[in-house]
Amino acid sequence: MNILIINGPNLNLLGKREPDIYGHQSFEDFFIELRSKFSIHKIDYYQTNHEGNIIDKLQEADNQYDAVILNPAAYTHTSIAIADCIKAIDLPVVEVHISDISKRETYRQKSFITEVATHTIMGLGLNGYALAIEWLLKNNLNQ
Ligand code: DQA
Repeated sequence: MNILIINGPNLNLLGKREPDIYGHQSFEDFFIELRSKFSIHKIDYYQTNHEGNIIDKLQEADNQYDAVILNPAAYTHTSIAIADCIKAIDLPVVEVHISDISKRETYRQKSFITEVATHTIMGLGLNGYALAIEWLLKNNLNQ
């Protein structure tokens, strides 16, 4: 399976950013482990701090990947544009959040992405990305 992970703003600071909430590991370190765990699959990773770049990457991915795992970070709670893009493309998109946004500040409890995502995983730390891959494999969303 050919999977693209897209991480939104400030997720390049994992490891140093609010470690009580997001943990002590950088995404780059975690990504090495993730790739070796799912070594028969092709997994790419893209991080951006810009909303439009997420949309461009999702549109490009439509022709290039079997599925996307998306953590839109703070854009989760604001971006109708990203939600519209997910509706417009044919790819399965699994929404992942490291923290449990349903139990955090009120402004984080609304996700425009959950309504349009194929599946959502939250509150399980970085392991949520591994569970998202397992979910895609289990549900045969690999064509
Ligand atoms: C996050 C939760 C968002 O509310 C926050 O803005 C993030 C990360 C998470 O992975 O828990 O940047 O998406």
